[in-house]
Amino acid sequence: MSLKITVIGTGYLGATHAAAMAELGFEVLGLDIVPEKIDLLRRGEVPMYEPGLRELLRRHVAGIEGATGRLRFTMDWAEIAEFGDVHFVCVNTPQKYGEYAADMSYVDAAFASLAPHLTGPALVVGKSTVPVGSADRLAAYLAEHAPAGADAELAWNPEFLREGFAVEDTLHPDRIVVGVRSERAEKVLREVYATPVGEGSPFVVTDFPTAELVKTAANSFLATKISFINAMAEVCEAAGGDVARLAEAIGHDDRIGKKFLRAGIGFGGGCLPKDIRAFMARAGELGADQALTFLREIDSINMRRRGLMVEMAREAVGGSFLGTRVAVLGAAFKPDSDDVRDSPALNVAGQIHLQGGQVTVYDPKGMDNARRLFPTLGYADSALEAVRGADVVLHLTEWREFRELDPAALGEVASTRLLLDGRNALDPQVWRQADWTYRAMGRPTA
Ligand code: UDX
Repeated sequence: MSLKITVIGTGYLGATHAAAMAELGFEVLGLDIVPEKIDLLRRGEVPMYEPGLRELLRRHVAGIEGATGRLRFTMDWAEIAEFGDVHFVCVNTPQKYGEYAADMSYVDAAFASLAPHLTGPALVVGKSTVPVGSADRLAAYLAEHAPAGADAELAWNPEFLREGFAVEDTLHPDRIVVGVRSERAEKVLREVYATPVGEGSPFVVTDFPTAELVKTAANSFLATKISFINAMAEVCEAAGGDVARLAEAIGHDDRIGKKFLRAGIGFGGGCLPKDIRAFMARAGELGADQALTFLREIDSINMRRRGLMVEMAREAVGGSFLGTRVAVLGAAFKPDSDDVRDSPALNVAGQIHLQGGQVTVYDPKGMDNARRLFPTLGYADSALEAVRGADVVLHLTEWREFRELDPAALGEVASTRLLLDGRNALDPQVWRQADWTYRAMGRPTA
């Protein structure tokens, strides 16, 4: 008989994981403690913009016409425990208010709610990004609080999905990492992931701490790569070099690789910034803080980018934002997402607004979230409307829509044809041919 799967927490990670498990053929029951989220999901709707996710949900959510009915949602912990052989815990671990450390309260609450209902054999699988050592602690918690005792086992299975590619990354992962303590747990997880493993996804079996560390190490490496190229951009800026050509040239060395070497206003979002900080905090607790002091520098380089972008813009408009109109293209922290958490684009827009500039923002998907977070900024319904009357245009999130803009048409409505590319993603030639002054971070002026 096929395994029955539950997914606890239906945010980004959980909603995608639940739909993907149904797609792989399992019966799935999802739980969330927010009634609005459950209502939305039961109707086959998604609380965020993520390409392909709505379609995937609608293929499986029970009650939707033509759906397989393999995916249902509940708010009842007893039903979850009764239903599932495998329980995936997908709740979030945000940065603690005023601290670097991760806030484990949602994870702890999920275990506290689930454990008393586990009366028979079950495998609880943590997917949330947690400080190393958490799995060990949570396994002990289960053993003590689940009536099933040792039959309620824990495994740790970090998730590497990227926003904008969540569906693809979940159905066809680069690798599957499982931290286990028994052959039984490994066997169950091999069964869960039989399809992607059959298609070639590597299956890496580790102990608990290694599984937890794989996630934070991977994100630290990615953050380091971005801050490295941004540091090179600062040097290029000082020396008159071109960081885009430099990235291209070093990227041909396949030990270095081309990916994640796009200089600009740096990384943001709900993962990289808080994960590197939580990692430093945890290393400190373990007495290994020296090993990660470099991450402090990675964080500083990254945060400095936002300020440098503001300075570049201020200089471009003659030294002060007072009385100037600034068009900002992009609000989401990355393209193909409506997520504005710790978005470098909005941070820059907000700083310019506070310095007296009149800022108008346009983003293909992030408008509602941006308005909620920064209600005092101006918003326009299209790139053209944002640019109308602008003294300077800032390109801050690299949406395809912005690469396809017609510089001539925008030039007609802009007050000054001055473009600053904070993502090094537009073609300088095309803009310069249409009489725009094009300037990018870490690249020569013309
Ligand atoms: C990241 C990890 O990539 C993913 O594996 C993990 O599971 C969660 O965290 P995500 O937060 O979706 O995913 O964003 P990512 O694609 O990594 O981009 C992060 C930020 O870096 C974005 O703001 C992006 O614009 C920026 N970035 C990316 C750059 O500034 N330069 C680059 O070359 C690449």
